[in-house]
Amino acid sequence: MYTKKITDQIEGDLKAIADNGKYKTERLIEGAQGTHVIVDGKEMIMFASNNYLGLANHPELIKASVEGMSKFGFGTASVRFLSGTQTIHRDLEKKIAKFIGTEDVILYSTNFMSNLGLFATLVNEPFGSTEPWKDVIYSDANNHASIIDAFKLCKKENLDKRIYKGGDTAMLAQFLEEDKNKNYRNKIIVTDGIFSMEGTMADLPKLIELAEKYEALLFVDDAHGIGVMGENGKGTAEAQEVFGKIDIISGTLGKALGGAIGGYIGGKKSLVDLLRQKSRTYLFSNAVPASIVNAGIASLDMLEADNSFTKKVKENASYFRTKLEENNWPTLPGSHAIVPLMIGDAMKASDLSKKLFENGIYATSLSFPVVPEGEARIRFQLSALHTKEDIDKTIEIIKKVW
Ligand SMILES: Cc1ncc(COP(=O)(O)O)c(C=O)c1O
Repeated sequence: MYTKKITDQIEGDLKAIADNGKYKTERLIEGAQGTHVIVDGKEMIMFASNNYLGLANHPELIKASVEGMSKFGFGTASVRFLSGTQTIHRDLEKKIAKFIGTEDVILYSTNFMSNLGLFATLVNEPFGSTEPWKDVIYSDANNHASIIDAFKLCKKENLDKRIYKGGDTAMLAQFLEEDKNKNYRNKIIVTDGIFSMEGTMADLPKLIELAEKYEALLFVDDAHGIGVMGENGKGTAEAQEVFGKIDIISGTLGKALGGAIGGYIGGKKSLVDLLRQKSRTYLFSNAVPASIVNAGIASLDMLEADNSFTKKVKENASYFRTKLEENNWPTLPGSHAIVPLMIGDAMKASDLSKKLFENGIYATSLSFPVVPEGEARIRFQLSALHTKEDIDKTIEIIKKVW
């Protein structure tokens, strides 16, 4: 029963969230995701979704999704290892592996789940082993919440965590040097490929160099990199000419590749096999439905045949960045489709985002603790489908409300 105690606790928590300006209101979009959406009957230009390639409502993906469902049904009503693996699950896994440059891939229901499943399996004792052990992870301070939560699933006494400042590879090198003679079983360097609050890239060549020097495993979460970075959208590794050299890559179908749902881990064949044996977020959760899987295959086929989506989103991001700079509005350098407009003060950022919204621009303000104190910003996410007119109109509106 809901006792008074638990009810007071829930309601008190909600009030505290609201009193601190942290209450999140979900706006209702009347129709499909796109660069133009309807909210409360009013047309808005969307800059707050991860629909980087504009595939979230693409007819080819919808067709593939319907075909997948017609042929393979609505759902597997099972987890993969019992009776839930269909031929297209393996087809998609092989396709992603080829696309991102890893030996094999395993699908999960989301990228959040894939990150949880990976670390809980990797930072664990081998079956039947009683040997004492301790691992250490070196994690970028700006890594995604799913990575932070993944570490919580690892036993505290078996894991040391060393958090280095965002992108600070010198600090990481210092940590690795300090730990050189410590008796760790495994060292794992953990980073996002693209940092979602900044749109900046991890320095993968440097991380590879450090991983080799200190015999550490390198994990890259490329949720925002896949489809966007590199000439062919193969991700942050392609963009930095280290394709095929990352030990473990995770990613999502929920952003550039159609924007529905679905995540994965790519890596060495034996690692992927071990995840199929031991990873609980994979083992005990339903298979991704065929409609999503078939659309995932279609999205990769499209990208392999045509890199114009990838080219276009980067052109749009570059054009938008240039316009911000021309107006002396502070942003961060980069080539990704995430372009932050740096404001500083949280109230100002939130006010500006509200005013933009009133003027038909849908862009989110981000403040502490999501970003460092005093570095509040409005995050614009460009899509291949934005037109020059969309961007020019947006710049005029920023001018008006600035
Ligand atoms: C870096 C990063 N990793 C993982 C995720 C989670 O992805 P999914 O929506 O597939 O769970 C996100 C989504 O915001 C992300 O930005």
